[in-house]
Amino acid sequence: MPPWWQGAVIYQVYPRSFQDSDGDGVGDLPGIVARLDHLVALGVDAVWISPFYPSPMADFGYDVADHCDVDPVFGRLADFDALIAAAHARELRVILDYVPNHTADTHPWFQASRASRSGPKRDWYVWRDPAPDGGPPTNWLSEFGGPAWTFDPVTGQYFYHAYLPQQPDLNWRNPEVQDAMLAVLRFWLDRGVDGFRVDAIHHLVEDACLRDNPPNPDWVPGQSPARRLLRTRTMDQPEVQSAIAAMRRVSNAYPGQRLLIGEAYLPIDRLMAYYGEALGGFHLPFNFHLLSTPWQAEPIAALIRRYEAALPEGAWPNWVLGNHDRSRVASRIGAAQARTAAMLLLTLRGTPTIYQGEELGLTDVPIPPDRVQDPWEKRVPGLGLGRDPVRTPMPWEAGPEGGFTTGTPWLPLGQDHRAASVAAQAGDPGSMLALYRALLALRRREPALALGTIAAVAAEGEVLRYERLDAATGRRLLVLLNLGGAEQGLDRCGTPLLSTHGAPPVAGRLRPHEGLVLAIEAG
Ligand code: NOJ
Repeated sequence: MPPWWQGAVIYQVYPRSFQDSDGDGVGDLPGIVARLDHLVALGVDAVWISPFYPSPMADFGYDVADHCDVDPVFGRLADFDALIAAAHARELRVILDYVPNHTADTHPWFQASRASRSGPKRDWYVWRDPAPDGGPPTNWLSEFGGPAWTFDPVTGQYFYHAYLPQQPDLNWRNPEVQDAMLAVLRFWLDRGVDGFRVDAIHHLVEDACLRDNPPNPDWVPGQSPARRLLRTRTMDQPEVQSAIAAMRRVSNAYPGQRLLIGEAYLPIDRLMAYYGEALGGFHLPFNFHLLSTPWQAEPIAALIRRYEAALPEGAWPNWVLGNHDRSRVASRIGAAQARTAAMLLLTLRGTPTIYQGEELGLTDVPIPPDRVQDPWEKRVPGLGLGRDPVRTPMPWEAGPEGGFTTGTPWLPLGQDHRAASVAAQAGDPGSMLALYRALLALRRREPALALGTIAAVAAEGEVLRYERLDAATGRRLLVLLNLGGAEQGLDRCGTPLLSTHGAPPVAGRLRPHEGLVLAIEAG
């Protein structure tokens, strides 16, 4: 039997924007429980919940002030226990966000660390003397704009932060830090979680010799200022691998295959290292390459072939169309192609992750300047880097604020999103939601899709095609995706199982933007 996560579909919940239960305008854990049946009806197997730990919310929960509790805005630990029980009762697995690279600056560890140069927690973070001119020790840049070093007058040294100054980096070279952070994994595993999505893993360790990062010759104005430098000395350092292996040993000690997913935006060849030596690393290093590949048949076919070919022996693939950090897929490629993309995501070989709202075809929501929340947008305004547009609340019903809250939502819902609510789409067989449900049901029915092999990945003009095969039964499926707006001739016959266009396919034709799954005769 393959492990559960290989045949599974994961759904990401961004808890601030999923469902509010107490009218404060921010989603919470009881809200998630109240909406679990949406996930059951959708047909996913696991829910990954972005951070809900106590946090000053400088980065909306990715600045953790206590790894082993729940922020009051999201509820209490008892609500978490209730969530796990409710999810498991529905056979939904629960995956938490684990943020090992940094903490909040309000975390007691950092408070102790910054208090004195000689305190026992000083070395838990990355402190360095100023450069001879008094400036930062290196040229390293923060992902969210400005230098990655902040001077702390209390002790006269700089501390390093890959992200905000309110997110100081932990020093993973310190064994005490490793022990403390591995204990966090055990805390939640003991409470019954089924796995973790590990945040920003490629940032975990920096060059010990403090060498500068080289300039990026490809940077052009308008791109994130952090990209002015190549992150040769601050990302993907060799020591990251031993830390991942240590996390994996912790998860391996628990029964039932607790899943470890790594967040690392890396080229394919480097990403593969994150499966670990003889696969002792992440079960699934997130594959974000569909986010950056031009939405055309040839580049996507090439990506699939390259990614599949690069997988180490025994490694299981995975695919992603979006998350709480990236422009929503329907905005990137348009409403028509978002349907084709859904078919791609759910018929490729590997574990797919759906970002909340993708199943409704939600688009990015323009945020008025006075409602901007994301610190990235505030620090580097005007470049379109802000992530608020992709984090707006889920519309559940037609009513005020889409049924998300009885109060004022922390971010506005899209005006057009109310019409796209779950309730509105649930009764419409032509809706995006209906397509997602049908795709997930098909995936459940067809072992060739959930666990089969993939072959014959090719682009023919604007049509992307590939086959999925269930070796045990010989069942063969052909997936045809028209990534263009023109009708295409169809040279293969077979039994149509599902079209993105709902109505039965036109014989011998692939309609504009149509995706089709056919069962084909063996041989
Ligand atoms: C990646 C997370 O997805 C993002 O939302 C966050 O801001 C950074 N890591 C820092 O934790």
